[in-house]
Amino acid sequence: MKAKGITLIHGNASARLAEEISRHLGVKLTDVLVTKFKDGEIRVQIKENIRGSDVFIIQSTNPPADNLLELLLLADAAKRASAKRITAVIPYFGYARQDRKDQPRVPISAKVMADLIQVVGVNRVLTLDLHADQIQGFFDIPVDNLFVTPVIKEYFGELDPSIWTVVAPDVGATKRARAIARKLGNLPLALIDKRRPEPNVAEVLNVIGTVEGKKLLILDDIIDTGNTIVVAANRLKELGALEIRVAAAHALFSDNAVEKLCRAPVEEVVITNSIEHRKEFNMKKLKILSVAPLLAEAIRRIHKEESVSALFI
Ligand code: R5P
Repeated sequence: MKAKGITLIHGNASARLAEEISRHLGVKLTDVLVTKFKDGEIRVQIKENIRGSDVFIIQSTNPPADNLLELLLLADAAKRASAKRITAVIPYFGYARQDRKDQPRVPISAKVMADLIQVVGVNRVLTLDLHADQIQGFFDIPVDNLFVTPVIKEYFGELDPSIWTVVAPDVGATKRARAIARKLGNLPLALIDKRRPEPNVAEVLNVIGTVEGKKLLILDDIIDTGNTIVVAANRLKELGALEIRVAAAHALFSDNAVEKLCRAPVEEVVITNSIEHRKEFNMKKLKILSVAPLLAEAIRRIHKEESVSALFI
């Protein structure tokens, strides 16, 4: 799948993923300097001529905020270098969970991110499993929000609906879980009624659906502190689940999430490489799937002005 006329740039947050995407596309990465001045300010420079080219900047915007800043500065550099079009490829779109004013005097951070990304001259966004679909509406430019469904489907294959049930760990995860349950073989769905008494703390109030004697696949978009998954798995085990596996698009693994997941009654934790971590995790039950082929194909289609909807399987 060679695609010419594409410029692939990446920041420090998505270096390995960008390498993989570059291999899939048969397009070499453009030489870019992304470093720091002595005072800590970010310094970027695109080292090759990109005038008139179709530029894709690959960078997840998980913390630290430097990741977002690198993306913004790279986009500005590309705009001022006369790129024909700039697509921000944001495998993990940070600040997406702050997508509404749910308390007095709080920002809608996801909207602020969208505004910043647009103001520097990004023409379109390619992202994966946005926390809430409606964030697309925070942008006035096209947003292609792909789902990791095909990657998950390829890994798990077809599961037996008399044995397996998909679990949505909160109401927000229901739509995504239902879609995956259908793809994996019309599996039954169970829902968890989750409450957050305070940020980063999760409590299970009720479980809706049959889980006793079942093998369960808990499906979420994000694993952050791991609390949602751990409290869900503990309760599901108490209710008689036979086996529990977990799949999530994005793994932030903040705090001591890895230790908690290692101890949790979970056989396997399946995540993607949408977020890159500096260290290797010592977790035997962890499986990391690559979203590079999916993103590479989307980039190729965007470049060729072909439909990306075929990727929404
Ligand atoms: C929340 O709405 C998200 O979909 C995830 O369930 C949440 O971000 C997971 O966070 P944590 O792992 O800290 O419970």
